[in-house]
Amino acid sequence: MCGIVGYVGPQQAQGVVIDGLRRLEYRGYDSAGVALVVQGGTVVTAKKAGKLANLEKVLADSPLPASTTGIGHTRWATHGPPTDVNAHPHDGNAHRIALVHNGIIENFADLRARLEADDHVLVSQTDTEVVAHLVELQVQSGEDLTTAMQRVCQQLEGAFTLVAVDSQDPDRVVAARRNSPLVVGVGEGEYFVGSDVAAFISHTREALELGQDQVVTITRDGVEITDFDGRPAQGRRFHVDWDLSAAEKDGHDWFMRKEIFEQPRAVADSLLGRRTRAGLLQLDEMRLSDDEIRDVDKIIIIACGTSFYAGMVAKYAIEHWTRVPVEVELASEFRYRDPILDYSTLIVAISQSGETADTLQAIRHARTQRSKVLAICNTNGSTIPRESDAVIYTHAGPEIGVASTKGFLTQLVACYLLALYVAQVKGTRYGDEINQVMGQLEAMPDHIETVLSASESVYALAREHLDTRSVLFLGRHAGYPVALEGALKLKELAYLHAEGFAAGELKHGPIALIEEGLPVLCVVPPRGRDQLHEKMLSGIQEVRARGARTICLAEEGDTRIEPYADVLIRLPQVPTLLQPLVAIVPLQLFACELASALGHDVDQPRNLAKSVTVE
Ligand code: G6P
Repeated sequence: MCGIVGYVGPQQAQGVVIDGLRRLEYRGYDSAGVALVVQGGTVVTAKKAGKLANLEKVLADSPLPASTTGIGHTRWATHGPPTDVNAHPHDGNAHRIALVHNGIIENFADLRARLEADDHVLVSQTDTEVVAHLVELQVQSGEDLTTAMQRVCQQLEGAFTLVAVDSQDPDRVVAARRNSPLVVGVGEGEYFVGSDVAAFISHTREALELGQDQVVTITRDGVEITDFDGRPAQGRRFHVDWDLSAAEKDGHDWFMRKEIFEQPRAVADSLLGRRTRAGLLQLDEMRLSDDEIRDVDKIIIIACGTSFYAGMVAKYAIEHWTRVPVEVELASEFRYRDPILDYSTLIVAISQSGETADTLQAIRHARTQRSKVLAICNTNGSTIPRESDAVIYTHAGPEIGVASTKGFLTQLVACYLLALYVAQVKGTRYGDEINQVMGQLEAMPDHIETVLSASESVYALAREHLDTRSVLFLGRHAGYPVALEGALKLKELAYLHAEGFAAGELKHGPIALIEEGLPVLCVVPPRGRDQLHEKMLSGIQEVRARGARTICLAEEGDTRIEPYADVLIRLPQVPTLLQPLVAIVPLQLFACELASALGHDVDQPRNLAKSVTVE
C-alpha cells in the first residue's frame, strides 16, 4: 500500500524523500508527491499521477526551493482514482500545512459533510484531504502541529498513518499511527519517519518502533512520542541488520511469504467501515440501488485462477444467506457457451488485478446482454471496475508475489460482504443474524494470526516432501474450493502434480491414484453440520486404507479425526462457511516453503504472469 517518508535534518530534504520513496516503490503505487517547508513560512508541493519518474520530471521542469524539512508519499488509490488531484500531499484552504496518509478514514464522509457545511472547499475525492483541513483548522486556532495532530486523531475512525508539516514551524515533522505502519529512523542530528525501514535504511540503521495510537514529533534535536491524549510514550529502539532487499520484504525471504503474513491486516482492512452506527451493513462503492438488487434473480460469478476459487466459496455463502441461485464460471469459458442472461442476472466479476483479459471480455459480453456487472477488485482505477456497474474493493494492498494469497482472502471477505448485503436488502436474513456473521468475520484476523503462529511446523512438514512428485487435496462443501486452491498453489510454486477433489467424488475415480505413501491433504469441515464431518472422515479412511499418508486440517477439539490423521494441523473453531479463511493459510505456507526449499523463485514462478492481459 502507500509509502510514506518524512525527514528533518541538515540534508536537502527533496533528495532524501525521493530516495526513500524509491525504496518504497516495491509496495506498489499509482501516484507520488512531495511537500517541502521553505524558510520564510511556506509549504511547496509537487505531485503527479503515475510513476516516480513523472514526479521527477515535474521537479526537473519546475524545481522546488531548497529545504531541509519534507514529506513524501506514494499513493495506492483507495478513495478516488489515481489522478494528480487525488495524489498526496493534501492541504487545507489556507495552504498552511501539507499532509500525507496511508490507510482508510472510515468516518470521512461525516467529517467531509461537516467541513463543507462550514464552507471548506475540498478539491479531491480522497479521505485524506478531510484530515488535512482538520489539522489546519487546529494549527490556525493557535495549537502547535503536535497538539493539532493529537486532537484530530481523536476524531478519526479507521486505520491510518498520517505525516504532516506546518509552514509556520519549519523544523518539525509530526506523524501519527493507528493500525497502520510507521517507524522512526534515528540519525545523527537528523530524523526520519517511514512506512517501513526501507525508507531510511541508506541513511541510518537505528530505528524506533511505535505503539498503537501514538503521535511522534521529529525535529533536528530529537524525537518525542505521545499518545493521542498528549501523554508521553516510549518507542522501542532497534537496530536494522537487514540488507536493502530484505528490508523491502519486511525481513521475509519472499514477497509471497510477507503477503501471507499480512493476511490478518488485509482481512481487517477489507472489513473496515462496512457497518453504519445503526448496525446496518453498507458498501460504499456499491453503485447498485436497492431496487436493482431486489430484482436480481440469478447471480453468475466469473473469474480466473485463484479468483475463480474465491467465487466457488462465494456460491455457498450467497445461496445460503440469500436463496438466490448462483453459477460460477471460468471467465475464459463464459461467453463461448452463449449464456442465458438478462437484466435480472447479476454478474459478479472477481479479479485481483482488474486487468485479466478473459474476465474483461466476459463482462463486456454480459453487458451487451443487459446484465448488471459488479466487480470485486483489489486495484482501484483498473479496467474491470471501470467497465462495471458497481464495485466492491478489497483492501489487500498491492500483491507482488505472482501466486495470489492475501488477494484470495480479501476476495472471500468481499464475497461474504456481498452475500450479507444482498440478504439485508432482500430481507432473507434478519439484521441480528447479519450482525452475528459480521462479528464472526471481524474475529477472523485473530484466528488467521493463530494459524500463522504455527507456521514453523508447517514448514517442517513441507521440507519432508522434497522428493514428492504428486500430492492430492480433498475437501467438501466450502472446503472443496480450498482443496482446489491448495493444489493450485503447489502447481504454481513447486511445479508438482497436485490435484484437488471433492472428497465424495473420490470413490468415483480419483481413488485409483492412491498408492503407498502418497500425501493427501484433507480439509476437514467443522463438526456438527449436515453430516459433512462424518462423510469427510469416511473419505479420509478410504484413502488411508489404501496406503495414503493423510495430512488433516481440522478444528481444535475435533478428536474424532485423530485416529485417521498421520499428521494433524489444527485450525481455530469457526463456522463452516468462513472456514476457508483459515484453512487455506497452512496450504499457502506449505507451498511457499516447499518451493523455496526446492530452490524455485517463489515470487516469479516459471511461465506465470501476475496479470494476464491476453485471452
Ligand atoms: C493469473 C495469476 C493468478 C490469478 C489469475 C487471475 O493467472 O497468476 O494468481 O489468480 O491470473 O487474476 P485476477 O487478477 O483476475 O484475479
